[in-house]
Amino acid sequence: MSTDKTIEKPWTGRFNEPTDAFVEAFGASVGFDQRMYKQDIAGSIAHAKMLAHVGVLTTKERDDIVRGLSKIEAEIQAGDFPWSIALEDVHMNIEARLTDAIGITGKKLHTGRSRNDQVATDVRLYLRDEIDTIDAELKRLQRALVELAEREAATILPGFTHLQTAQPITFGHHMLAWNEMLQRDNERLADCRKRVNVMPLGSAALAGTTYPIDREFTAKELGFDDICRNSLDGVSDRDFAIEFLSWASILLMHMSRFSEELVLWSSSQFDWVDLGDAFCTGSSIMPQKKNPDVPELVRGKTGRVFGSLNAMLTIMKGQPLAYNKDNQEDKEPLFDTIDTVKGCLKVYADMMAQIKLKPDNMREDALCGFATATDLADYLVRKGVAFRDAHEIVGKAVALGVETERDLSEMKLEELQAFSDAIGDDVFDVLTLEGSVAARNHLGGTAPEQVKVAAKRAIELLG
Ligand code: ARG
Repeated sequence: MSTDKTIEKPWTGRFNEPTDAFVEAFGASVGFDQRMYKQDIAGSIAHAKMLAHVGVLTTKERDDIVRGLSKIEAEIQAGDFPWSIALEDVHMNIEARLTDAIGITGKKLHTGRSRNDQVATDVRLYLRDEIDTIDAELKRLQRALVELAEREAATILPGFTHLQTAQPITFGHHMLAWNEMLQRDNERLADCRKRVNVMPLGSAALAGTTYPIDREFTAKELGFDDICRNSLDGVSDRDFAIEFLSWASILLMHMSRFSEELVLWSSSQFDWVDLGDAFCTGSSIMPQKKNPDVPELVRGKTGRVFGSLNAMLTIMKGQPLAYNKDNQEDKEPLFDTIDTVKGCLKVYADMMAQIKLKPDNMREDALCGFATATDLADYLVRKGVAFRDAHEIVGKAVALGVETERDLSEMKLEELQAFSDAIGDDVFDVLTLEGSVAARNHLGGTAPEQVKVAAKRAIELLG
């Protein structure tokens, strides 16, 4: 990055002294906003075409600008662009270079526009493009989960409440619970995109412009769905970024919960899954360790994303209309969140496509903790016992199991009948793990048959 003192800023007309060197570096955003160069150039090309369309530029001027900007895009892509701190941001860097390249016509590009509507347009275009990439990555993770659910529709593990064994469930059902959350995230993202894809360009500095601009023309060129209806709001609104950060926070909250489960499941105490060597690391001192770094990091990055949401809300809360320099602070939390979300989704989609299960261990654990106690109570209800009485009867049977260290399914019929004469020899059908899950065969239930139906629907929703 150049710190050349001879570069002239485009706004020095009313100034008598140069900017303090530290202030110049302190205020510059080019170090981080240059990543929007493509959107900045696309926005400028659309603006120049619009100006020619309404007769403010000649077609020759328009063509020179478009050619110059395309050349600059290639220079930046090739890493051949002289970024300068003195020119503050991506916008002034590109504009100054355009004038270098094509002469005085370059100075006409900024007609009827301000950096205020320019930057708001660039950020929205950039975020819109990233939302599309994120959407594809989110769907890839969802597909991995749904395929795993389909394969493991009948694999049994204990389901928990309070992290205590509650009832047997199927692994497929558990994966589809995660997919439900991600499906809502997927729908929320599509909704957020609608409000991101609205064009501020034409708001100019804050009040609009005196030129006969055609905002519909520019919006069409740039693929915007709508146009900001108020110029003051257009340049100062950052709700769209806050909404995306809220979206990302909810997604990461989900992924963090998921991570917590994977950390537990891959521990030697649970030993239900193997995350794969490619997704774990070792310890520099303990040779036996295989640490679940990926889920731990995703859980940790959740804090970072929540922090960005908080930063953005706080950046906005004290600002009067319209644009204020505070708004320059919108970019780093937003960009960091985009990068973080993309990384988390990518690593999760790859990891979940390769995860190995240990069904024998899950099954063994499902057999501990009296996971089918509710099934015995439901059985008694079907035999005419009131549910509260059935609850009491089963509680006593469980107490015997605790005392003699046996599951209900391991007791003799006569032992069970001592608690209730409503118990017949068909009781063992409901005390097995398979019987228990298969019985929950309704919309939203854990039965393998339902998991298959739900997985099919989930795939259809993914399109
Ligand atoms: N770099 C600035 C930003 O990110 C661009 C807009 C500057 N506008 C201004 N009036 N100083 O917000």
